[in-house]
Amino acid sequence: MDNPLFRDYEKLVCITILGKPFQVPENNICLRAFQFISPDTIPYGRFCWNQECQLCRITYTMANQSGIEPRSVLACKVIVAEGMQITELADELRYNLMGVIQPSEIPPVVENLEK
Ligand code: FES
Repeated sequence: MDNPLFRDYEKLVCITILGKPFQVPENNICLRAFQFISPDTIPYGRFCWNQECQLCRITYTMANQSGIEPRSVLACKVIVAEGMQITELADELRYNLMGVIQPSEIPPVVENLEK
């Protein structure tokens, strides 16, 4: 696959984002996979792409690893894997993926009401 944006890959892997299935290129970081899914928004997000801004934080579990605690990671650091189930997205990701994940599918943000 000769797209310089993506690391070399032989196949697409299946992941879910907030329960919705997608196929993305293996061997790539999650944020790049999100760009594969939504090329018209992710490049224009406020992402640093180098693990500093924290705007790409996600929580995920693996479909084939029941009983394992969900992991909170940076999408610009972790490599996508077959069966990755992304269950939470930072607000910047939610905003930029809104076109591929309908607003009705995105759980509401829980405000911290304690002061
Ligand atoms: S894009 Fe800034 S920390 Fe991941």
